[in-house]
Amino acid sequence: MLASPWYRFRQFYFGMFSRYAKKDAVFARSYLTIEEMSLFNQLPGFEKKHAVVVARKMLEASYGHPELDARKLVRLGLLHDIGKVLEKNSLITKSNLVIIRYFFPKFYNRLADFGKDHRRFRRFYIHKHHGEAGARLLEQIGVSGEVLSIIARHDPRVAPLGEEVPIELQMLRDADSTL
Ligand SMILES: [Fe+2]
Ligand SMILES: [Fe+2]
Repeated sequence: MLASPWYRFRQFYFGMFSRYAKKDAVFARSYLTIEEMSLFNQLPGFEKKHAVVVARKMLEASYGHPELDARKLVRLGLLHDIGKVLEKNSLITKSNLVIIRYFFPKFYNRLADFGKDHRRFRRFYIHKHHGEAGARLLEQIGVSGEVLSIIARHDPRVAPLGEEVPIELQMLRDADSTL
């Protein structure tokens, strides 16, 4: 499911008013290693809150899939946007990026491509490719296996056409696209 503007607006509103609370930190800590947690803590508060919300949804969804590893699903939720530590955006900057992507997709894509090698537009590159960037970061701190490829591919907007979608990836995309 692709995110509608209405969903994005709600996400912005939610980001303004819901706080990353102590119980959220306790929840995250119980699923992440110390190295993962120190990366996670570098995310802005609203991104941490978003990750915890997605992770709790993954936990809920896991009840319907006893064949899947619930812990892995929660970790996917917590870590899926970890690439955003590389370019920290305020909620306002993030909203501007979302607006540019929605109304001027060609312009956005051009700046994102350009931002791969140019510091000035790196914000666009990381915004678009935070999945792959996050997977690389996690690999550097010892995370391995399928978690990496799912995180790298979690954003359906950068997915290749006709890709094969494993169930965990689909669950993550679903949890990530609803509030
Ligand atoms: Fe994401
Ligand atoms: Fe997300």
